[in-house]
Amino acid sequence: MSFDAAWLDLREPADHAARDAGLLSAFAKGLPDQARIVDLGSGTGSTLRAVSAHRPDARWRLTDNDPALLAEAGRRAPQAEVMQVDLARDLSTALAGEADAITASALIDLVSAEWLDALAEQARGRALYIALSYDGTEVWSPGHPADADIFAAFAVHQAGDKGFGPAMGAQAVPYLKAALEKAGYRVALAPSPWRIGPGPLMASLAEGIAGAATEAGVAGPVAAEWAGARRSCAGCTVGHVDLFARFETHTVQI
Ligand SMILES: C[S@@+](CC[C@H](N)C(=O)[O-])C[C@H]1O[C@@H](n2cnc3c(N)ncnc32)[C@H](O)[C@@H]1O
Repeated sequence: MSFDAAWLDLREPADHAARDAGLLSAFAKGLPDQARIVDLGSGTGSTLRAVSAHRPDARWRLTDNDPALLAEAGRRAPQAEVMQVDLARDLSTALAGEADAITASALIDLVSAEWLDALAEQARGRALYIALSYDGTEVWSPGHPADADIFAAFAVHQAGDKGFGPAMGAQAVPYLKAALEKAGYRVALAPSPWRIGPGPLMASLAEGIAGAATEAGVAGPVAAEWAGARRSCAGCTVGHVDLFARFETHTVQI
């Protein structure tokens, strides 16, 4: 599965507006000075830009398997280390070294349960800020007769293999939360929905959902008619969830 910089640029303003401000601030405040942060599936560095507004002193390793996106990330943030790595196969290389925190955005709905288990295990006490994971909620207004069929097929497509094995989709965040709590973390979640009006993002999203629904079995003309109607409807809300996890340290009073 590949993503291009134009799509990531189109969604970045909606992503920044959607990120839960409380969790972002709590994560940023908890970082040590000059924290070393590893961003997983960085794309062009959207999470670096979101966190840098609060913590310009942080030092970043941006990891992705797409060399074009990494080159763009390095051009926009020349101070960051960029690392090309297939996270599906080699998470440990991305996390190697003395990192204080791990971040990701719009990534973990693509991955498998096994990968989330590996992340929880390899996090080893470091803070995690995992933003903008899709939660399966779609509300497009006004309603359309094909909505139920399109979103059911989109959910099937979401669960397909995106290079990491069967994708967790909307189940990724609850699954990771449980795995991190088992590993001794305290985990906070907050909704971070996109609220989108008519414009290029809505049009692109409608085309993308219709394309995925077609691949999952919806008849092409039905999906095309739905996308045509949805390119500029009154508004849509696409649900996401942000996660912030802090390792619990236990002190004994004597
Ligand atoms: C939806 S984009 C999100 C990018 C960025 N975090 C953001 O919020 O703009 C998902 C990112 O994961 C990367 N990715 C997908 N599969 C990967 C893999 N197997 N190894 C490393 N990166 C991967 C993509 O190249 C892309 O940059």
